[in-house]
Amino acid sequence: MEILAKPRPKKDSIVSTVQKILMVTPELVPFIKVGGLADVVGALSKTLSQRGHDVRIVLPKYASLTGIETAVPLKSSPLIVNLGGETAYAQVWEVSLPGCEAICYLLEHNLYFDGPEVYCGPSGNEADNAQRFSFFSRAAIDLCYQLGWIPDVVHCHDWPTGLLPVYLNTTEQGKPMEQVATVMTLHNVQHQGYFPKDTLEFAGLPEVTFRSDSLEAYGQVNMLKGGIYHSSKITTVSPTYAREIQEEDGGCGLEKLLKFRAADLIGVINGIDENEWSPETDLYLPERYSANDLKGKTACKAALQTAFGLNQADNVPLFSIVSRLVDQKGLDLLVATGQRLLETMNIQIAVLGTGDPTLEQAFKFLANQNPGRFASYIGFDNQLAHLSVAGSDFLLMPSRFEPCGLSQMYSMKYGAPPIVRATGGLVDTVEQYLEGSGLGTGFRFDAPTAEAFYDTVGWACSTYFDRPEEFAQLQANGMAADFRWDQSADTYEQIYTWAMEARKKGYQIEAKSP
Ligand code: ADP
Ligand code: GLC
Repeated sequence: MEILAKPRPKKDSIVSTVQKILMVTPELVPFIKVGGLADVVGALSKTLSQRGHDVRIVLPKYASLTGIETAVPLKSSPLIVNLGGETAYAQVWEVSLPGCEAICYLLEHNLYFDGPEVYCGPSGNEADNAQRFSFFSRAAIDLCYQLGWIPDVVHCHDWPTGLLPVYLNTTEQGKPMEQVATVMTLHNVQHQGYFPKDTLEFAGLPEVTFRSDSLEAYGQVNMLKGGIYHSSKITTVSPTYAREIQEEDGGCGLEKLLKFRAADLIGVINGIDENEWSPETDLYLPERYSANDLKGKTACKAALQTAFGLNQADNVPLFSIVSRLVDQKGLDLLVATGQRLLETMNIQIAVLGTGDPTLEQAFKFLANQNPGRFASYIGFDNQLAHLSVAGSDFLLMPSRFEPCGLSQMYSMKYGAPPIVRATGGLVDTVEQYLEGSGLGTGFRFDAPTAEAFYDTVGWACSTYFDRPEEFAQLQANGMAADFRWDQSADTYEQIYTWAMEARKKGYQIEAKSP
């Protein structure tokens, strides 16, 4: 397996030719966001476009898209989408990705996308995802033909785009799109898109793809598996996660396949968009600040305490959480230890998140029990997410697994050292604090246990009170860290080139199972 932790390509290896890149994604900042995938595809597309590449993006036109007032219908619309038993139509809209020249095509289809949710159709039924995302992958290909624009590479993101590489290797044989290389990025292998076998018929894919060395898994269609099998190259969002998903614990059933494709699997760490996430320019904050002058951070802390109804206190360490409330994030550890933490330490905790109702209830309960010291805001609020990392002293991120994670990078940039479990991208981005030296950018713990979490919060708390100069050094180290996209964009350019070279050599469905 190729691991590129801190990619530093030699000058002469940097790709200088313009690449035609089609991003196919279920989420995209600034138009629609559920989690970090949206930030990543938005920022990577912008960076590649600013480097001169011809970047186009395909995104469903969900009813909840924002910031698309300037979108215009494509002249050649409607797009004819060639599914199995039926021909479907999509109205296509065109809008620029702000800050660059990338074009985003929005696919409108009332039955599939006219609802507010990304991972659930207008009917509210997740089973519709089989049709919605088969349609999406198929439409992205048909759009290229209609535009007369054949990309060099299609970059797919997660299971909703898994069928696209399968189409290119089957239905598109002998057609112009057959030449196109594919890169599949795995943002999270926990979600794979399992659907009944008749999805193939609907999608118009041949029976030959229903094999264990293609789309079939446990008698069903597994879209992510198909994407992994059929892509020219596979990436995931950190080197450590690239290793973890090849083991039983991390692979969620795909570990053997990922080992089988290890030579084509590359871990590339995500970056952050500093135009969006920098305390020096962030317009969501009441005051801005920099590593040289943290005065504005005090104002942000006061504003965060007000927003969450916490006691006004500048000298009490404030721990924040900005997270989807899902099993992956390990927040049950906070539920288990929250009361004890508050009883034994002089701290405040502010939780911003939404998701699992049990976790939501548990945090509301802790807030009721500890007014002024524990607070939760159940919902999705981008401004509050910015204020949370700016106004807090620490971020809590005890993830059970974490492919990359962005919140910890944002918090480091904003001078709030993170407390993280040592897993996935958290290992690759957070440098362990070395007590007595001031080295490090945060606090890591290994075992996913309440005790380890409790002790590490205690360690952070004592650093704040007992070693303030070392705490200040940790803040400075995180704020100085380079999380910009450039290095990872270099690597993606290189991977696109490798994918194109591999594609030129041709493709055959492997006859053997891993
Ligand atoms: P994941 O993609 O697994 O959710 P990441 O750390 O990669 O985790 O990215 C999470 C992104 O979602 C960050 O940009 C974070 O600020 C944002 N986010 C998560 N929960 C919320 C929320 N409740 N309100 C606003 N933003 C949120
Ligand atoms: C996924 C992962 C997260 C990663 C994000 C962007 O949502 O859970 O760790 O940062 O994708 O790649």
